[in-house]
Amino acid sequence: YAEDGYALWLRYPRLAPDSTSPGADECPRFTIILATPTGQETPTLALAQAELETALRHLYGQPPLVRLEAVDTDSLPYALRANDTKAREGFLIAPFTTSPQNNTSSSPVLRIAAASDTGILYGVFALLRQLQLSDQPFSNIAITSVPSIAHRLLNHWDNLDGFVERGYAGNSLWRWEELPDELDPRYRDYARAMASLGLNGTVLNNVNADARILTTEYLLKVAALADLFRAYGLRVYLSARFSAPIEIGELHTGDPLATEVAAWWRAKAAEIYALIPDFGGFLVKANSEGQPGPHDYGRSHAEGANMLAEALAPHGGIVIWRAFVYSPDNKTDRVKQAYNEFLPLDGNFAPNVVLQIKNGPLDFMPREPFSPLFGAMRQTPLAAELQITQEYLGQQHQVAFLAPMWKEFLTSETYTQGPGSTVAKVIDGTLNGHPLSLISGVANTGSDRNWTGHPLAQANWYAYGRLAWDHTLTSGKIAHEWAQLTFRNARSFDPETVETIEKLLLGSRETVVNYSMPLGLHHIMATAHHYGPGPWVDNLHRDDWNPTYYHRADEQGLGFDRTATGSNALSQYAPELQTLWGNPDTCPPEFLLWFHHLPWDYRLSTGHTLWDKLCLSYQQGVEEAQAMLSTWEKLAGKVDTERFTDVRQRLARQVTDAITWRDSCLLYFQTFSKRPFPAGVEPPP
Ligand code: GCU
Repeated sequence: YAEDGYALWLRYPRLAPDSTSPGADECPRFTIILATPTGQETPTLALAQAELETALRHLYGQPPLVRLEAVDTDSLPYALRANDTKAREGFLIAPFTTSPQNNTSSSPVLRIAAASDTGILYGVFALLRQLQLSDQPFSNIAITSVPSIAHRLLNHWDNLDGFVERGYAGNSLWRWEELPDELDPRYRDYARAMASLGLNGTVLNNVNADARILTTEYLLKVAALADLFRAYGLRVYLSARFSAPIEIGELHTGDPLATEVAAWWRAKAAEIYALIPDFGGFLVKANSEGQPGPHDYGRSHAEGANMLAEALAPHGGIVIWRAFVYSPDNKTDRVKQAYNEFLPLDGNFAPNVVLQIKNGPLDFMPREPFSPLFGAMRQTPLAAELQITQEYLGQQHQVAFLAPMWKEFLTSETYTQGPGSTVAKVIDGTLNGHPLSLISGVANTGSDRNWTGHPLAQANWYAYGRLAWDHTLTSGKIAHEWAQLTFRNARSFDPETVETIEKLLLGSRETVVNYSMPLGLHHIMATAHHYGPGPWVDNLHRDDWNPTYYHRADEQGLGFDRTATGSNALSQYAPELQTLWGNPDTCPPEFLLWFHHLPWDYRLSTGHTLWDKLCLSYQQGVEEAQAMLSTWEKLAGKVDTERFTDVRQRLARQVTDAITWRDSCLLYFQTFSKRPFPAGVEPPP
């Protein structure tokens, strides 16, 4: 059947024999009990029931019997009873063994119980996922699940004119000119997709914020979306521009310590909450890349954040303050600047402030070590900002499945409280005992029919949501789930197809690293659009935007010395990591040129010289891209024509792009190394 990708991972292909086959009658009619503290019908429970009915009708040919029941909260497992967001949003799915009175049939009965209706909705999606993933009998399914992180957000970098900054899947989903009167049906489909992953927050507008979003005119539009999203457990947040009191409020200052400024924000918060009682809070990019902020008035980031936090606190809102700050006036290595700026402020933030830090200290490169703030800042809740949209990883043209990159980050050891002090434990609040926990993913969604431009990029939205819910999931499991849910087709179901797609996904990010920025190279992409190579660029007005600032190629060698003989960014990490990464012989090859400037003839543990290894890495990336294309071509006839053709075309372009990266980077670096290409590396034309 036709597949335009709109249904995402919620396609619900028929699992049982289709209704024309003999045996269709044998499909039992399932009974599902939804048990909440009140047992009352609510908009959320209505959605849960509707989802079950539609899904099971598609999967098995007949809808289930769904019943609501009241559950005594004390009878729930402890994990679901605790008085916090995580517990409230968890769920239990278990077989119901004793037949309830009004269940006269002998058909299997399952019970989904939760302390909140949202927990039930998440349980329903988990059940539907499980039914499609395993051949387990319906009545054996037993899952208890609680999210790892309380606030699980998408950040949309959407402008009010419909343009999406770093968006590669069309325009914004939000049709501001139609809101609040006209509601695009797609808003519901978006909220449903979010709920299916357990994502519970959405920041609607770009961090490079337009103050107009906070005007009454726009707040009414935002409220219309919030009203629609509420039943899906999805709360709305907004990016706030620090200078809004001047731009839309007629004040002459935005100084966070000026009483009229604080009063303006308090009134604004009150106005917002009158319209949107469950408003999540503000996301703020301040004093970063030209955005206004507290530094404009000689105030600190903490003073700025706390002023906003005070305005939101009476309403239960939070401030998500971004740590992505660096300045052209600051001559310190850019990757050190956020740490230097924020570490001294640790302990100074209000309790409803969370600091949102990009996974790496630079900017969403194909590979970076984790930001040292995750290890160092102990008294402030720290949130991770991941980039789902592939700004530096081939945008909508290339496959780069990002779960392995995020897992690498989440499982990184900070060592701040000994082994096991992983970044994941910092973010989920357990390592430093913070009840406020949050994760953000910069969205890759847009108005394209298939939501994400590249059909396989849907896997990144999926992977982000699944990891935000449970950061212990493996990349392999996530790839398997997504491939099975997205490509399974009962009529020609072929586990090999799913396995092939899984494998292709799992290697794809490393392939992109290999042909673009291997061995710890970073920021050598083309200027502005960030697509394709540009290591030769050295004439930008800001030196910290020049690729030459980062790769430092010269006749002696390549790489950025961040040890004590160089910028000493290494000193921002725990001693264990300083020892490991500080010595090129023990530094993992993937971070080699991030931390070291090494001679072209430096010999790696593989026996290769640096120059040869660099060439071979680029070559390997090209060969892997070619292999992805030929793997995909073998799926002809096994995947529907629409998605098959779309992906094939994009993979063919990815091969061309990989060759461009290899040839241009190697030819450029060869002007310094002055060495021949090693055997096996195709000389550039
Ligand atoms: C990157 C990106 C910008 C974005 C910025 C941010 O620099 O290129 O478009 O605004 O990150 O995260 O604030």
